[in-house]
Amino acid sequence: MPDQISIGLMGLGVVGVSVANAIDAKAEVIKARVGCPVVVSRALVRDIGAVRSNLRNSVELTTDPDIILNDPEIAIIVELMGGEQPTLDYINQAISNGKHVVTANKEVLAKHGPELFKAAADKGVMVRFEASVGGGIPIIGPLMNDLAANDFTAVNAVINGTTNYMLTRMASDSNLDYQMVLKEARDRGYAEADPSADVDGIDAAFKLGILASIAFHCTVRDTEVFREGIRRLSPADFAYASELGYTIKLLATARRTHGRIQARVHPAFLPEDHPLAKVDGVYNAVELEGDLVDSAMFQGPGAGAEPTTSAVLADIMAEAHSIANGERLPVHMSDNNGLVVEPIDDLETKYYLRLRVYDRPGVLAQITTVFGDLEVSLASFIQKEVGELGDVAEVVITTYVAKESAVQEAVRQLEALDSVSEVSNLVRIEEQSASLARGGQPKREGD
Ligand code: NAP
Ligand code: HSE
Repeated sequence: MPDQISIGLMGLGVVGVSVANAIDAKAEVIKARVGCPVVVSRALVRDIGAVRSNLRNSVELTTDPDIILNDPEIAIIVELMGGEQPTLDYINQAISNGKHVVTANKEVLAKHGPELFKAAADKGVMVRFEASVGGGIPIIGPLMNDLAANDFTAVNAVINGTTNYMLTRMASDSNLDYQMVLKEARDRGYAEADPSADVDGIDAAFKLGILASIAFHCTVRDTEVFREGIRRLSPADFAYASELGYTIKLLATARRTHGRIQARVHPAFLPEDHPLAKVDGVYNAVELEGDLVDSAMFQGPGAGAEPTTSAVLADIMAEAHSIANGERLPVHMSDNNGLVVEPIDDLETKYYLRLRVYDRPGVLAQITTVFGDLEVSLASFIQKEVGELGDVAEVVITTYVAKESAVQEAVRQLEALDSVSEVSNLVRIEEQSASLARGGQPKREGD
């Protein structure tokens, strides 16, 4: 048993400070669980002189990454800087120096996970990353360990706290538009200074790529995840969603279907009794569908210093316990069964479309002809006068299950019609969920 296990912390921001403080505050509990003390011996920062009034750990600071990465006393590198570079280089250097790694960095894992896991396996060290998806929700561990006996068929998730906060607010107050709720999210400290990663679905696509790769034992790169953000949603979409019995969420879903993987992040109309429809505010949730477990739902705070610290610290404790007790560290997640991601054009689902049309005789016939010729069946058709728009009326259409390529072609043809002023929005309707299909009841023999 070593006298102590030393950690090198890279990044001392929102999460880094919280982790350093928690290691100090919980020193006795950590020692009891690990078997020896765990200490933060050095932390990498960019500005050594910056005031860190909330830091309660007397850790030595440095601006030189090599001092940490080459320190033979440091057994675990905890990477909490974020971003792709220089982080990737630092993690690779840590691995080749024989150090174990804990990271909360979804971008590096989504873009370079397989290579990092291979390098770690070759070197006999671990890379743990529970905090990279869902903040404080345990999801990587259950997928890789507790539910490992399952053949997963689907991962359905709300995995971006910022956008979920914004959409929840727009749904609850019809006077709020996109810019207003974005400002609110910023004021509350949820959204980044540049919120594109959140509102354009980039953050959720990173996280979905990680979850899908583990669940389906393949490599789903973030660039293969179809992605659409929330910028086009307007108060009108929320009003129609409610009228039709739906809630709007930024859905991240991956599904094994016809021997391929479907992976997509986009706003979706969810039936009000869908398990993800009730996940509100900055909360995240992940629903897994597996052959043995049926449907399992994980829910909790998806962001924030302390929930994220909960996941980071558990990873540190697990690695420290293995080191302290001379256990052989499990090697994980570098298998690839060759499943490929299918193009979004092949998706089959229901759709909602909102159009502005010139209120003239024959317009509706023209619209229905476009859909009919493309073999897209319409499920409902609402037309409303829009007083302030003169002779322009708003038309809302929902379809039965149709092929994405046909619906996108319909949008192109509608936009070309003289009678259509604009196709204001298209949102996919998602009704797939194992527990929803059975009215929230567990699976029975024969189901
Ligand atoms: P943050 O507050 O921006 O902190 C990042 C820290 O890393 C800052 O102290 C920054 O220094 C430092 N840093 C960045 N680049 C550096 C470099 N090249 N050299 C030295 N130091 C550098 O970010 P955070 O919110 O703590 O997030 C950290 C990681 O956790 C990210 O990967 C993030 O995606 C992940 N995460 C965060 C949350 C959350 O709720 N915040 C939840 C889950 C996962 P400066 O202070 O000088 O800028
Ligand atoms: N920006 C992310 C979110 C932070 O809002 O969910 C947690 O990964």
